Amino acid sequence: MRDRPLVLDDPIALRVIHAEVARALREHPPKHETPLGPYLRAFFVMRSRFAEDELALAVGRGVRQYIVLGAGFDTFAYRNPFPDLRVFEVDHPDTQAIKRQRLADAGIDTPASLTFVPIDFTTTALADALHADGFDASAPAFFSWLGVVPYLERPAIDATFRFIAALPQGTAVVFDYAVPPETLSWTGRLIYRQMAKRVAAVGEPWKTFFDPKELMADLHRLGFTSAEEFDGDALNERYFKSRTDRLKVGGMGHMAMARV
Ligand SMILES: C[S@@+](CC[C@H](N)C(=O)[O-])C[C@H]1O[C@@H](n2cnc3c(N)ncnc32)[C@H](O)[C@@H]1O
Repeated sequence: MRDRPLVLDDPIALRVIHAEVARALREHPPKHETPLGPYLRAFFVMRSRFAEDELALAVGRGVRQYIVLGAGFDTFAYRNPFPDLRVFEVDHPDTQAIKRQRLADAGIDTPASLTFVPIDFTTTALADALHADGFDASAPAFFSWLGVVPYLERPAIDATFRFIAALPQGTAVVFDYAVPPETLSWTGRLIYRQMAKRVAAVGEPWKTFFDPKELMADLHRLGFTSAEEFDGDALNERYFKSRTDRLKVGGMGHMAMARV
C-alpha cells in the first residue's frame, strides 16, 4: 500500500488479514510510522520476493514441488503462476486453522495444486508429515523457510536441513536468519532489544542466531553441496538499489540458500 515501486506484487495479502483491519488500512493509511517500520516492511516483502525469484529459477530447471515451511499467511499458493507446480503449505495446525478460516471468509478457494501439511517442528519429523501427504521424495523440491528459523532450537533446525539435504539433486532451500545480536552495531543492538521484547511478549521468543561463516560450514556438514548467504548490503543491492524512497533492509536479518 505505501511503497512504490512494489517489491512483491501480492494482491491477496490484504484479503487474508482481518477484514476490519484491511478496511481501516485502506480508508485511513497511517500517515506516520515508527522509524523501524520501513525496515521491517522491507524485510518481509524482500524475503518472499527472494524466495519466489529463486523458485522461478528452480521451476525453469524442472522442479515441480514447492514446500512452504512455516507458511503462515504466505499467499504464493493462491497466486501460483506455474500450472504443474505442486505447493505444500507446512505449518503449525493452530496457524493453519486460522489461515484456512480467513481464506474461507475472504472467498479465496484452495487451488487443486495446494496441499496443507500440519506439523509441529518441535515434535514431528518433516519427513513423516510430508510423506503422509503425497510429497514425492524421489524428485527434487524447492523449499522456503521464511520467518521461522529464529523461533526454533538447533535440533529441530538441523533435522529439517538434514532431511532437505538428503533429497535428490536439484533440491534447494531458501531461508532467513538472524545474526548474533552482539555482532550488531550499537543502533542494531538497540533495535534488536526492542523487537526481541515484542516477540517474547507474545510468547514466541527468538531462540537461534547464526554466525554467517559458521552457518555456511554447518550447511555443508548437514549434507548440502553448496550454500550462499546474503547480508543487508547484498539484499539492498539486489532489491532496493534504484529506489528513490528510503525503503531498505537493516543489518540483522540475512538470507541464505543451500542446494543439493
Ligand atoms: C513469523 S511467521 C512467518 C510466516 C511466513 N513464512 C512469512 O514469511 O511471513 C512464523 C511461522 O512459523 C510457524 N511456526 C513457528 N513455530 C513452529 C513450530 N514449532 N512448528 C510449526 N510451525 C511453526 C508459525 O505457525 C508461523 O506460521
